Amino acid sequence: MRPFKTTYLSALTAFLVYGVSGQTAGDYGQCGGIGWTGATTCPANWTCSEINDYYSQCFPGTATTSTTTATTPTTVPSSTVGTGSTSASSTSTATTTASSGSATLAPGYSFVRAVEDPYFHQYLQSEVLNTPTTAVLGNYTNAAQFQVVNGQLIQNAAGTNLYATVDPPANSSVTMLGMTWSTTPDTLGTFVFSGDSLEWSSPTVPRPQTNAWLVCPSGTTLFIYINLGYYDYETPTGCSDETLNAYTGPTAVP
Ligand SMILES: *[C@@H]1O[C@H](CO)[C@@H](O)[C@H](O)[C@H]1NC(C)=O
Ligand SMILES: *[C@@H]1O[C@H](CO)[C@@H](O)[C@H](O)[C@H]1NC(C)=O
Ligand SMILES: *[C@@H]1O[C@H](CO)[C@@H](O)[C@H](O)[C@H]1NC(C)=O
Repeated sequence: MRPFKTTYLSALTAFLVYGVSGQTAGDYGQCGGIGWTGATTCPANWTCSEINDYYSQCFPGTATTSTTTATTPTTVPSSTVGTGSTSASSTSTATTTASSGSATLAPGYSFVRAVEDPYFHQYLQSEVLNTPTTAVLGNYTNAAQFQVVNGQLIQNAAGTNLYATVDPPANSSVTMLGMTWSTTPDTLGTFVFSGDSLEWSSPTVPRPQTNAWLVCPSGTTLFIYINLGYYDYETPTGCSDETLNAYTGPTAVP
């Protein structure tokens, strides 16, 4: 064990990282982000670049390849309205109007949202609200509410439990998996919040990076997929890389 301090997280969240060994992330591996407790260094001649507050990744090269605009996170965004932004001045959003926003968050639940452009603060929900339809991202005003129980991601659909079920891969060439809300639980894998980041893993579906998601629009509908590859690597045409993150403010905000 080589104790070390990271400057990535502030003292407020330092408890999350003490005790982690000085292990090195793999090629294209995660190397930081709010709630991340794994490796924080990259292989030789690879650089750790911040993609958003919740996610940094190793890229080839020693020059900075990041398009970072975020300032150093100073608190866990899920506890504070209006933070978690990748914009330069997230504090200015703290007074966002709640009057036209979503329903109030129920105790024990979280909103789940993307935090990276072009789908910044689009929220997880059903294609047809509160029904067992395809998983999509959508307007904050329609944000659904979730909890993870026994590895199941459960949507509170107006009092009915809907389970996130992942489409099994048709063959080993498939690079992304769709997700549908169902009245019966998922049997393929396990959901977990790692810090604020929503992850999915399965013993039968090899996946190097459990928090990599894809958003692929069709018309105005933003379909969400599990990315079986690395974040930001060989992104399918028309799709965008995203992480999905819990947000526990009183209401969903733009
Ligand atoms: C890193 O880059 C330097 C300079 O190009 C090179 O000399 C060195 O062998 C590289 N190291 C690795 C592990 O690739
Ligand atoms: C999101 O909801 C707000 C408030 O109802 C509305 O003004 C806005 O047009 C909606 N945006 C989209 C993309 O649907
Ligand atoms: C794998 O499945 C996908 C989706 O059904 C299909 O488009 C593709 O042709 C299949 N590839 C192989 C090698 O079977």
